[in-house]
Amino acid sequence: MCGIVGYVGESKAQDFLVSGLKRLEYRGYDSAGIVTVAPEGEATLIRAKGKITDLERKLVENKKEDTIGIGHTRWATHGEPSEANAHPHQAGPLYMVHNGIIENCKELKKALKGHEFKSDTDSEVLVALINSFYKDGKYPLVNAVVQALKLVQGTYGIAVVSVKNPDEIVVARSGSPLVIGVGHDETLIASDASALVGHTKQAIYLNDGEVAVVKKNSIEIKTLNAEPVSAKVEEIETNLSAIQKGGYDHFLLKEIMEQPDSLTETLRGRVDAENGIVSLGGPGLSEKELRSIQHLIIVGCGTAYHAGMLAAYYIEQFTPEITIETVIASEYRYRQAYIPKNSVAIIVSQSGETADTLACLREIKKQGVKTIGIVNVIGSTIAREVDGGTYVHAGPEISVASTKAFTSQVIAMVMFGITIAQAKGVRTSILKPYVEEIAKLPGEIKQVLASSADDVKKIAGKYKKYDHAIYLGRDTAYPTAMEGALKLKEVSYTDANAYAFGELKHGPLALVDDRFFETAFLPKGMLYEKAISNVQEVLARGGHVIAVTNNQKFDLKVDDVIRINTSLELFVPILMNLISQLFAYYVTVAKGYNVDQPRNLAKSVTVE
Ligand code: G6P
Repeated sequence: MCGIVGYVGESKAQDFLVSGLKRLEYRGYDSAGIVTVAPEGEATLIRAKGKITDLERKLVENKKEDTIGIGHTRWATHGEPSEANAHPHQAGPLYMVHNGIIENCKELKKALKGHEFKSDTDSEVLVALINSFYKDGKYPLVNAVVQALKLVQGTYGIAVVSVKNPDEIVVARSGSPLVIGVGHDETLIASDASALVGHTKQAIYLNDGEVAVVKKNSIEIKTLNAEPVSAKVEEIETNLSAIQKGGYDHFLLKEIMEQPDSLTETLRGRVDAENGIVSLGGPGLSEKELRSIQHLIIVGCGTAYHAGMLAAYYIEQFTPEITIETVIASEYRYRQAYIPKNSVAIIVSQSGETADTLACLREIKKQGVKTIGIVNVIGSTIAREVDGGTYVHAGPEISVASTKAFTSQVIAMVMFGITIAQAKGVRTSILKPYVEEIAKLPGEIKQVLASSADDVKKIAGKYKKYDHAIYLGRDTAYPTAMEGALKLKEVSYTDANAYAFGELKHGPLALVDDRFFETAFLPKGMLYEKAISNVQEVLARGGHVIAVTNNQKFDLKVDDVIRINTSLELFVPILMNLISQLFAYYVTVAKGYNVDQPRNLAKSVTVE
């Protein structure tokens, strides 16, 4: 979603602003803009609808040596994607970029009679409001920002510059992340630390309700109530190679292919396969607390939600006396749900910034329920607000569609489940098969990716002509089907939906015709024969079936079979999900769409 960058120092601000915005492209956006200010106070504002390359074309004739500036990529909320609605927005001597939503912008706008609005955005209302307190430079900018923000309802991460003081940027946050990069004779700003990688390793993460005056050699932070904040400088762990394509055509393929390594990082130091034991440091729950857990609520959105669903199937297999409920964050935050005693909530989020997931976390905490984060981005808001947690350490995920994070999230949650089971005294003989398979999983993933990518590519070429798909599975293969359908729809724009096999007769069977293909996930196991009968029902009605199975003797006459050769039994659905990921990737490439940045979508959804 929207991205913010800022620079004040001794180098050309435009260079960092453009390169920083490129780093944030993966978040999804539809227009971009930058402003820089010369020492004598002249501002150069460049904005463009479309991609950063469109902005760069305009920049050719507007190159400046200015050493201070701010920039933004916008993902439209109020007002269509257009140059006029792109940030930075101006009011008098001020220019501002904003992430988030100003909910009371209508009321605020009414009071701003003197300002002639040039855009349809809520953000322009905010900068006009700030300027109404700034009075064209009569008062300190930071005071004006604080006064304005006290009137605002909603979420924001903002950066403001003034042509009257071209040596400072004022930034503030509430619900929308902002990181300040500490350099030598320069200070950088970004909504996401990946924009800072290669410039500095030192970062200060602003907290909600804080405002900072940022200069080239100083950073002064205080709360909106004027209490000084002593900033904690943290290390940015990401390195440059982790956010580059590394020889792949697209981030999506790179991220699919790096799963053996990303999962290895998730497991590092946590799994003792020989003794069938898992040890997680992060959750911070005592043995007694773990033993007393009777109810788990798993909260997430999109892929994180599917990861939660799949993990729940596993955890209930080996943990006695536990009820698990996996919920969609955007729904759960408004439900009047009673959370029983002895509950723990697992908050799953790759980015750690998803607005609905964060809101759920806060609601759940209000009820005094312990929260455990399963988060990828280190230092993100959710990671900081949960009571304890396990970082999945999957490394930066740049492509909008989530792939490697899913695999790591499922396993991190299963490991948390095993930790609970261990505390509850579940016999090692029951848990050991899970721990052993977890330890083997990176190697099996490597093998499946290497052996099936070419076959999947061929098959994908055949199915690119279809506009509709149905993904089917049961038990652990049902969440796998859901995640597979999501992957296909988000990147290839194929209308793909998932159903539990058992639900076929209750509606979806009516859809089967030549316009649809059906992807059937068929792991060997207790429900295999039942799932095969369901596939036969589809075939009998002329369906076009792709079967994904680890049964080497599979001999049903379907259109295509993708066989998975593995010694694993429990985590086969995770291997099947790799096939879905590759399939979605290759269908999209065959259709010629932008795989890494699908239309209308954003990587980190920081607004409701
Ligand atoms: C967006 C992304 C999805 C992701 C979901 C939840 O919709 O495009 O890939 O699964 O948000 O994101 P989170 O960062 O909370 O895991």
